[in-house]
Order: sequence, then C-alpha cells, then structure tokens
Amino acid sequence: MTVKGLINGIRIIVESDPDAASRTAAELIARQIAEKTDCVLGLATGGTPVQTYERLIQMNASGEVDFARVTTFNLDEYIGLDRQHSQSYRVFMNTHLFNHINIDLNRTFVPDGCAGDIPRHCAEYESMIQSAGGIDLQLLGLGHNGHIAFNEPGSPVNSRTRQVDLTAETIEKNARFFPTINDVPRHAITMGIATILEAKSILLLALGEAKSDAVDAMLQGPITQSHPASLLRNHNDVTVVLDEAAAGKTSVVDRSAISMD
Ligand code: GLP
Repeated sequence: MTVKGLINGIRIIVESDPDAASRTAAELIARQIAEKTDCVLGLATGGTPVQTYERLIQMNASGEVDFARVTTFNLDEYIGLDRQHSQSYRVFMNTHLFNHINIDLNRTFVPDGCAGDIPRHCAEYESMIQSAGGIDLQLLGLGHNGHIAFNEPGSPVNSRTRQVDLTAETIEKNARFFPTINDVPRHAITMGIATILEAKSILLLALGEAKSDAVDAMLQGPITQSHPASLLRNHNDVTVVLDEAAAGKTSVVDRSAISMD
C-alpha cells in the first residue's frame, strides 16, 4: 500500500518495502525525463539508490525511459580515488547505471577526486552545472547523521562544491565498501548545501529502520545545520520516498497529516 502525505511542506510517499520505494523513485525520475527529455539530473551513490538504478535500467531496456539527451551531475567523490578505482563514485555510476542505459557518457559528470587544484575544480563543477541550465531533479540519499551528499553536520547553508573532511561515523559506515576501514578516504569533494538547494526539485530516498531517526529529524526536528537534511525544508519542491521501516516514527507521529491512496 502506498501512503502519501505532506509534512512540514515536504511531500512524503511511504511504500511497504525497499523494492516498492525504489520503483516509485525510478518512476519519478522517469517522469522528469518524459517531461523534459534534455533534463539535468543530479545523482547519488551509496547503497540506497542501487535498486532505483536497476529499475531505471529495466525501464530503459523496455523503452519506458530514454536517456539519450539527459545530462547528469553526481553529488560527490572521494579525494584520492581516481576514475578507475573500484570504490570511486565514477566506477559506481558506470557499473550501476551508465554502462547499462543509452546515456552519452560525455554528458555524465562526477567530481574528479584526483584533480590537481581542488578548489579550482570545484568552482568549475559549479560553473558546469550552471552552464547546463541547473539541475532539474536532484536525487539524494540520507546519512545516519543527517548528511546529504558529503555535507556533514555543521555544513553551512550557503556552502557550495568544495573539499570536506568525512566524520568518523561516515568513515565507519562506508567502510563496508572497502577492504579495511583504513582504506576509506578521509576527504571528499561534495556539492554544497546551497548547490543542492538550487536544484529545481529534490527527491530524497531513505530505506531501512536504521534511517528512521534521521528521517524523523529531517521532517520534524528543528531546521538546523546540525542536521543537514532538515535544511531541505527551506526548498519548495521536495519529495521524500521511504519504505515503512525508514518511515518508522514519522508515519505514526504525524498520521493526521497523511492520507492514503
Ligand atoms: C554516503 C554518500 C551519500 C549517501 C549516504 C548514505 O556517504 N556520500 O550521498 O546518501 O552516505 O549512504 P547509503 O545509501 O549507503 O546508506
């Protein structure tokens, strides 16, 4: 069953399980592409969007979505991992999406974690987003501590693409993708909060019980730099797609705000 509602100005869609939530996220992305075939998507990595990308690959194969004219910008990249490194976000995107759809790879952009002059590269990344006309739809995951992209707690609301230090918690969470925790890079390039909030629309996907506290704080806690995702409430076009486990308290606490399909 799909439950839809509005909490503090954010559209919420709660699906029964991760598969259904991922299908819904894929459909919203496909709808954006259908409305504007040359749209600009902001894309995310991590475990959360993997099933969404799988669904988009299926939809592309069956002709339901066409990436031929789409441009993409990824949120972030580890510093020190080159484009061929198995854990780089460039390889992640190629492996989980780009290699399997009819997108022009020359129109897919991921920050370069091995750029010689990182501040300059970050400024150029911002310029490239502007030159492409801005991001039409930004897909986001959600960190356990409320981070979005690699904007850790305390990230300024006016921050732009820049080099950041990862918190010990994020390094620990992301260690599952690396041989040992010592192999996890300590720094990253990330779009800033302001960069993300400039997207015309935002789609945040969160799955699993472990995200339920972060979801609750995002939707119903104070709007604060201490919980970066709460800053999304300053944007007027945000959709949050959850499975029931991630919705956790949210659907219970604010049931009055929620209607059923
Ligand atoms: C990572 C990424 C974020 C992602 C988040 C959650 O550190 N930089 O973009 O949303 O953590 O990851 P996951 O989806 O694996 O839980």
